[in-house]
Amino acid sequence: MGKPLKQHLIDPEICIRCYTCENTCTLEAIEHDDENVVVDSSKCNFCMDCIPVCPTGSIDEWRIVAEPYSLGAQFGWDELPEQEEIAAEVDEAETGLEAIDEAMTALLAEAHKGAGGKARAPASASRPTVNMYTPGRPAEATVQGNYRLTDKAGDHDVRHIILNLGKLPFPVLEGQSVGVIPPGTRADGNSHLPRLYSVSSPRDGERPNFNNLSLTVKREKRGVCSNYVCDLKPGEKVKLTGPFGSTFLLPEDPQARLLMVCTGTGSAPFRAFTMRRQRSTGANQGGMTMFFGARSPENLPYFGPLGKLPPELLRTHMVFSRIPGAPKEYVQDRIMVERDAVAELLADPATHIYICGLRGMEEGVEMAFTNISEGIGTQWLALRDTMREEGRYHVETY
Ligand code: A2P
Repeated sequence: MGKPLKQHLIDPEICIRCYTCENTCTLEAIEHDDENVVVDSSKCNFCMDCIPVCPTGSIDEWRIVAEPYSLGAQFGWDELPEQEEIAAEVDEAETGLEAIDEAMTALLAEAHKGAGGKARAPASASRPTVNMYTPGRPAEATVQGNYRLTDKAGDHDVRHIILNLGKLPFPVLEGQSVGVIPPGTRADGNSHLPRLYSVSSPRDGERPNFNNLSLTVKREKRGVCSNYVCDLKPGEKVKLTGPFGSTFLLPEDPQARLLMVCTGTGSAPFRAFTMRRQRSTGANQGGMTMFFGARSPENLPYFGPLGKLPPELLRTHMVFSRIPGAPKEYVQDRIMVERDAVAELLADPATHIYICGLRGMEEGVEMAFTNISEGIGTQWLALRDTMREEGRYHVETY
């Protein structure tokens, strides 16, 4: 038996197959097949570059092994194997693993800044289906509608896309994502990788009990997939993978209180959460509060419908950064204005926090939570760790 080694692995149950880690790894130590994204132990040098870019924390898995798991073994996994017995037998000082551990803990702490750490699903969330359709076996959906949500005059183009799955089973939960495979090939001749989009409709369909779902997609200047999706016409066929995501989910407990913070298309999962509660519990639930940042009302997706929801269902704070003549306001600024209400939510163990949208917002929002927590004699980092452990703190930023 060789000397025990530390091996970097990816949790296939939590990974959303966005391939960001693979694109980040300069050593080409990360690769994928139709099922899983895996790490080649002979190439990985623990540089940690892939850790902060992972939106779910599924990348942050480590095992001490006598023999590294092969790529073939990892491709076959539905779930991660438990730590082998060997760990208990290892004399860490003798093998130098203790020193590796210390160095890795320091690297991880650094890498996790802004990464949101390792995610856990809410305790009461429904069990999601994941990876049912893969790039080699995609689902085919038909475009039912494509509506522009933002000001038609500007170049800020956000679309509401409705996709019909017909008779194909495609079970999605609120908060999950699907992959869209754009047609054509990359410069290297391979097919495009799927691009992930959050589903913005609830589990029973954009229209209740129709097998359809909606996406909220922003046109990116040179985005191959976003331009393809934003230009889709009704009747066209689209290849989908997924569903993906097993942690950024809605608690089924109706008394759970939701504090949701988003910018732009980061509102997609919160539209799904809101519609789910609207259709299931109605106002008879713990309450939802949303801080939603956009450039202006004309550029805030779902501005009209959001404004019509009763506060018993959803309390909305719409925050604008580019209103002529008005000072720029970001979500974190409004959270500070609403500090008493937010403090009350932070202090309540029934509260679940969700942050979705621009990665840049995360630091500011965390800062606001730190300030507000201090005001109630709580340490934000400790509270955040507890909330994350309990599946009550969820971040999806990009
Ligand atoms: P701005 O771009 O004016 O600085 P969209 O994706 O629809 O453009 O919306 C993103 C919103 O998030 C915009 O209002 C944008 O403001 C705002 N924003 C940009 N950077 C941050 C940040 N670091 N923290 C919070 N909000 C931000």
